[in-house]
Amino acid sequence: MNILAFESSCDETSVAVVKDGREILANVIASSADLQSQFGGVVPEIAAREHVKVITAVIAEALAKAACTMEDIAAVAVTAGPGLAGSLLVGVSAAKALAYAYNKPLYPVHHLAGHICANFLCDPNFDVPYTGLIVSGGHSHLVTMDKEYNFQILGRTLDDACGEAFDKIARALGLPYPGGPQIDKLSFAGDSTRYEFPESHLQNALDFSFSGLKTAALTYINRAKMQAAQKGIDWTDLLNINDFAASFQAAIIRTLVKHSEKALKLTQAQRFALAGGVAANTHLREALAAMCRKNKVDFTCPDRILCTDNGAMIGAAAYYLILSGVKPTDSTLNAYPSWSLDKWKSLPQINVRKKI
Ligand code: KG4
Ligand code: ZN
Repeated sequence: MNILAFESSCDETSVAVVKDGREILANVIASSADLQSQFGGVVPEIAAREHVKVITAVIAEALAKAACTMEDIAAVAVTAGPGLAGSLLVGVSAAKALAYAYNKPLYPVHHLAGHICANFLCDPNFDVPYTGLIVSGGHSHLVTMDKEYNFQILGRTLDDACGEAFDKIARALGLPYPGGPQIDKLSFAGDSTRYEFPESHLQNALDFSFSGLKTAALTYINRAKMQAAQKGIDWTDLLNINDFAASFQAAIIRTLVKHSEKALKLTQAQRFALAGGVAANTHLREALAAMCRKNKVDFTCPDRILCTDNGAMIGAAAYYLILSGVKPTDSTLNAYPSWSLDKWKSLPQINVRKKI
């Protein structure tokens, strides 16, 4: 079964063709990240306009790379949420138009389900049930997926998402957007024990909170900047950026690994999967792999290109959605900027204001 899959929830416009939820025939990704970096983050209006500009060419390129015509496509899938409303609507509109024009069934896919299902594309032995960690620019979730492909959310962030914390601190350090890869790179030459960061203690031991960590990091940076201004020197003479990046990153990873281990103990799962943009982080991949080895649990994480937003992950998730018996949707499909992962098999209700 070939699925033509669309992803446009943030600043990547991507269209893929995925066979049987496991094999990528094409995965074309156009990103407006360079343009966004001039503004220090994603500007929703710009992201939506860039999607409109490139989506037709991206569809054509994906079909050409897969050596497919619409005749070879069994179903169309699209990220319908969560994400930026304007961005989501571009992918949803394109997918709806193609499904309607070629009379193909249309499946709305949850963005985070897509992220974690990228693991099906990378390891032929990866299967349900599993416990997983999804860490992206907008979300941080600990989840399980059961044999019927249902998600249960075990823990989530109560404030900033993990990637957001990386991006905000990178920005305060004067690094370009997206900040995660920059901190990852700087930390290789840094001492991760140099700066201390607080650990959050929450009621649900599997939830996350990154705001305390972020405030502590900003306090270090602002203090260094103020003292440097008084002394007339450069603030980087008072704060070693490599050591700081390494210490900040290590604090985040410590929490992610600790909570993941607790989740594994709770679920007794034999498989652990990592996913989301932050899953590209070298040290996080290594630390979780080591924790899984210690607990004799199989560890999977997607190839780096499948960690950031892409259409192939949506094609994989759509395949398992179809396997689980979900029926296709129709041209009333909308964008759902806040859609909960544990309800990924049905679309959220939209509150339409009643006429008085
Ligand atoms: O999943 P994603 O591509 O977009 C969302 O769905 O949000 O995630 C983007 C996030 C950004 O915050 C980016 O800084 C972070 O993933 N990221 C990383 C790395 N590569 C991307 N964070 C830490 N280390 C990395 N190597
Ligand atoms: Zn994402």
